[in-house]
Amino acid sequence: MRTQVGIIGAGPAGLLLSQLLHLAGIESVVLESRSRDAIEATIRAGILEHGTVDLMERIGAGERLKREGFRHDGIHLRFDGQTRRIDFPELTGGKSVYLYPQHEVIKDLVALRLRLGGDIRFAVRNVTLHDLETTAPRLKYVNSQGAAEEIHCDYIVGCDGTNGVSKPSIPEGKLKTYEKVYPFGWFGILCKAPPSSDELIYAQHQRGFALASTRSPEIQRMYFQVDPTEKVQNWSDDRIWAEFRARLETRDGWLPAEGPIFSKVIVGMRSLVTEPMQYGRLFLAGDAAHVVPPTGAKGLNLAAADVQVLANGFEAFYRRGNSEPLLRYSDMALKRIWKAQRFSWWMTSLMHRAPGDDDFRYQMQMAELDYVTSSPLGAASLAENYVGLPMQYAS
Ligand code: FAD
Ligand code: DHB
Repeated sequence: MRTQVGIIGAGPAGLLLSQLLHLAGIESVVLESRSRDAIEATIRAGILEHGTVDLMERIGAGERLKREGFRHDGIHLRFDGQTRRIDFPELTGGKSVYLYPQHEVIKDLVALRLRLGGDIRFAVRNVTLHDLETTAPRLKYVNSQGAAEEIHCDYIVGCDGTNGVSKPSIPEGKLKTYEKVYPFGWFGILCKAPPSSDELIYAQHQRGFALASTRSPEIQRMYFQVDPTEKVQNWSDDRIWAEFRARLETRDGWLPAEGPIFSKVIVGMRSLVTEPMQYGRLFLAGDAAHVVPPTGAKGLNLAAADVQVLANGFEAFYRRGNSEPLLRYSDMALKRIWKAQRFSWWMTSLMHRAPGDDDFRYQMQMAELDYVTSSPLGAASLAENYVGLPMQYAS
């Protein structure tokens, strides 16, 4: 069969791109290696920047997000036994973020695409990319029934995340990778308990970082910094709660609301950028091209920003025969990506204790936290980055 744009991966990048292309009258087929149930049940990110919320609304996928999601007008930074609030609308001219879990975004986008007749092929295997240097690239794969199939495309977009096939299909030496691996990871839990706070708490403590986030009035999402080689089985519920109590403590005796823990995972942390995000007729978008440490809540939002730039490029190509914006995709997207990388790296460095950090380093972190929470200009910079830099900063 034939399509205009072959998309690999039905994560936020692939699904958003297929909907943006549909709205521009451009055909696409999405190939996804997992089942619909599996992608709709994978717990990942939680925070949507204001621009991602606008995008979801603009493409017709914002209704449940606005109804069931939670608008957050600020975050709490906790350090030295005290809590300081960053007020987003006040510091950014009225902008906020939404707490709406990634798997709910996925559910809404899959439902929307299928309702509009979108072509998403779940549970495919052995996707391979061919003739990327020509004007007629092809995708080969094995469908969910075990039959070999082929798609002829004008372009292919790799939206297949960190372990996908797209990037490895680019010949060696064509890409430059920048990478930083952090000497810590996050231990994430889901628990049945009421929220400890109406807004997220990011805590810097001598014992390490902790984050209190939420999923619903009944389910809470919390994280704490651990050694990346730590094992989940070493952590009983009691030990986890003792760690949260210690790291989230305040001088006035604040305590997190505790409850049964029903999910425990450890994720590593790194910063990674691949340049350029294109090879021949293959473009890379989202985690397939770059990874951020989760501290700034940028991963999903960057994927959304990439595909907006890319969709504009496809529109210019198909509507006006102008391939210039597509050729500039990598340069334009990377400008915003590097700024989000900087913010994620900065917030990670500010909030975590690294092995070997001395007392001087700790005092520097305390002074910086005091500065960004007491200076209106320092706070405004944090707030502007957290709610999401304007798209025009990418051009
Ligand atoms: P993905 O969401 O990874 O989607 C890629 C899709 O491609 C997947 O559905 C995958 O099954 C599919 N795929 C892969 N290989 C193939 C193949 N060969 N053929 C066909 N399909 C393929 N970000 C935050 O901001 N906060 C967080 O707390 C946070 N937690 C995270 C926890 C984990 C465990 C992970 C892995 C990521 C987390 N992230 C977090 C990052 C955020 O979830 C990602 O940045 C976001 O999912 C990127 O979207 P994407 O569409 O680029 O990639
Ligand atoms: C969540 C994850 C993050 O990385 C973050 O910075 C804020 C919230 C979450 O999963 O809720």
